Amino acid sequence: MCGIVGILNSNSLKTESIDILKKLEYRGYDSAGLSLFSQKRIKTIKSVGKISALEKKIKSISDKPFDGVIGHTRWATHGVVSRNNAHPFYDDNLTLVCNGIIENYVKIQKFYKEIPNDIESDTEVAFYFLSYLLNKYSNPDSALKIFKKTIKGNYAFVIYIKKNKSFYLLKSGSPISLSQNKKIFYVCSDSSILSDYHDKIYHLKDNDFLKINKDKIINLKNNEPIIFEKNLKSLNSYDKGTFQHFMLKEIHEQPNVLKDTQQRYDKEYFLDFDTKFSDLVNSDKIILVGCGTAYHAAMIGEYYFNKLTSCDVSCEHASELRYKKLPNKKCLFIFISQSGETMDTLMALKYVKKNSHKAVVITNSLQSTMVREADLTIPTYAKKEVGVASTKAFTCQILSLANLSLQIGKIDKSINISQYNKYLKSLKSLPTKLNKLINDFTPVAKKISKKIALADACYFIGRNIGYPIALEGSLKLKEISYMHSEGFAGGEMKHGPIALIDKGTITICIIPNNELYEKSLSNTQEILARNGRVVILSSLILKKNSGTLDTPQLPKENFIDTPFIYTIPLQLISYYFALSEGTDIDQPRNLAKSVTVE
Ligand code: AGP
Repeated sequence: MCGIVGILNSNSLKTESIDILKKLEYRGYDSAGLSLFSQKRIKTIKSVGKISALEKKIKSISDKPFDGVIGHTRWATHGVVSRNNAHPFYDDNLTLVCNGIIENYVKIQKFYKEIPNDIESDTEVAFYFLSYLLNKYSNPDSALKIFKKTIKGNYAFVIYIKKNKSFYLLKSGSPISLSQNKKIFYVCSDSSILSDYHDKIYHLKDNDFLKINKDKIINLKNNEPIIFEKNLKSLNSYDKGTFQHFMLKEIHEQPNVLKDTQQRYDKEYFLDFDTKFSDLVNSDKIILVGCGTAYHAAMIGEYYFNKLTSCDVSCEHASELRYKKLPNKKCLFIFISQSGETMDTLMALKYVKKNSHKAVVITNSLQSTMVREADLTIPTYAKKEVGVASTKAFTCQILSLANLSLQIGKIDKSINISQYNKYLKSLKSLPTKLNKLINDFTPVAKKISKKIALADACYFIGRNIGYPIALEGSLKLKEISYMHSEGFAGGEMKHGPIALIDKGTITICIIPNNELYEKSLSNTQEILARNGRVVILSSLILKKNSGTLDTPQLPKENFIDTPFIYTIPLQLISYYFALSEGTDIDQPRNLAKSVTVE
């Protein structure tokens, strides 16, 4: 994971690098650091915690004498969170930062006695290894070639070597892009950030090995010139407005971004669906793939496809798919990723492509690596999502899957035109319905969050399409509040999880008004019978039994809009509970927005 930045020859190295690091903080915020460098010296400052801590530390340093800077924000993989393990790693001649994992670092560490054996960080081992090679070989390019040949893993390195005043970029797997304007260069692990600086960009390809010296760039991989392309202007907004947290702002933005996304689908994207998406319609099997919240969207997609189309459909965790044998049938894989950079999803995408299957990506990031790797992209228009907990990107992913399954269902005649029109109409009326829901449910969420505060653990149950909603509700609660939480399929409770229930637990029961509501109510009774407390979310008017803490009534739903109507209340409950717990809601502990390691 981690975010990296590099700037050469700009007049405001410090301000710009801190600015970019703040934008990169979503990739990790365990520690941060930067090295300012010139032909004469390297000055490195590191600190534990967020970029604001680093910013304070460098206040008194002048960047005038320096020609360039490299900076890093870390999400710890190997080695504890500490100042020592923060990047850059440096000595008098060399400074480097890395995003990714060096998989063979233990072997390298054992093999070279020059590398201290008590180092835990894979990047620090790489640093000592390169430093050793630079001492051994008089030509830094030769040392770097051996370095690159030896290290294995998914990584992107930015390196400055004082001896030959050169700046190097190495890529294998992890994203890194370069922009240039005359003598000024910017390097960043998020290309969309660079569009604020330059309009031309080069996305490094795997095994690229760039050397920048003065204003010259050489690709040591093949000595071929690199070709810059136009960088799309990003619409990123890093402004919370009047909201206390990005997460709350993003919950409230959902009606608008869903409206935008639906309008784009109606007016441009899903026009001529059968010609544009013939692969989707003609494949023998559809497999939906994602991680975390995006995996929950995939599960919801599976219920949509299963009910509305005749497709053979299933879903997979990206991290598992990559190590499975793929079916022999003609499969279409639909990858779902807000960032388009999640390493597990990206590697799974590359794996299915290598095995000659088609890959579609549903993503919120049109400049991402997955877009460049997939056969087809279906964009979501959620705009920049800053909060680590995904909210609006998730509901836009569901909207995308709802539209896809409706289109396919119409073509394969699993649904008739009046069902198609009815469902499409309900997707179009979501914004109005959800605006009212957010307003009406906010005080209810505050009330429920106070009850959760008295519990030892909080569980979520649902059946059918309510099951992935329960999983997502539980993920949201645990990631931002750190409360112990699990999500279960309602029918599974009696097969084991019900043993967890006692009077200290609260279970939030998702009970839409569908053909399974009576069975879901029975699952609730089973919990109440064991002294568990419950909160029931339903559009039905329900009687409160003893042990039922609350039964807020939700708007009437149908099959297609159920996930939206039940997810938003869960987002609000998690948010207000985390707020009362005083956690860092937008950047919860141990997490990062974009998970770019396997
Ligand atoms: C969501 O709240 C999570 N922080 C996380 O599960 C996320 O959805 C997952 O890492 C996938 O990210 P992506 O959509 O960018 O691929």
